[in-house]
Amino acid sequence: MIIAVDGPTASGKGTIAKALGRHFRLPHLDTGLLYRAVGYQLQLDGGDPDSEADALAACNFPDELLGHPGLRSEATGGLASRVSAHTAVRQALFERQRTFATQQGGAVLDGRDIGTVIAPDADVKLFVTASVEARAQRRWQEMNDRGEEHSLEEIEQDLRRRDERDRSRAAAPLVAADDAVTLDTSEMDKDEAISKAIEIVNTLTGQLPCP
Ligand code: DC
Repeated sequence: MIIAVDGPTASGKGTIAKALGRHFRLPHLDTGLLYRAVGYQLQLDGGDPDSEADALAACNFPDELLGHPGLRSEATGGLASRVSAHTAVRQALFERQRTFATQQGGAVLDGRDIGTVIAPDADVKLFVTASVEARAQRRWQEMNDRGEEHSLEEIEQDLRRRDERDRSRAAAPLVAADDAVTLDTSEMDKDEAISKAIEIVNTLTGQLPCP
């Protein structure tokens, strides 16, 4: 079974995808991490995120980089959003994601274009969304917990910028697949969102809930 989980930054898609992986015993890939690694490597190389050639060169990042804590920062997220707009970068990362999606036994992948480009044949497609205010509040809380100080306004503005870039780019823009089920988590806490996602997968696949 392939489960595609797409949605904007801080919608809860990563948490939901991870939980679905655990519940249905499927391996999970956070594809945003690949774009973050490209952004981080590009910075190490001193490249220009708006140059397709520089961004493509950064796709040769070493696998060990995927575990680097610097990948989680807001700055790297912004760079990831910029390098991900290049078609050559998306093509360079395609095979790795497709191979993961089509592995024996199935997989869960989360990102922006899983249901539309990487696994249009997915058995379940979830489009996880939430209001920009709810997402900014969550991101603020996460950062606060990590001891990073940013104002709520600053975070909200950054999310709006990132949404706009991810939605308006020509290459694989952030958009719900026609056959995706939309899950709005604005009014849900983490556990509610996870339960709802499991329920959707069970309903769509006709499986009985796991004990
Ligand atoms: O999910 P995230 O915030 O870690 O993703 C960082 C950036 O990577 C995001 O702004 C857009 C890009 N991305 C993408 O274009 N396609 C994906 N499948 C995953 C992420």
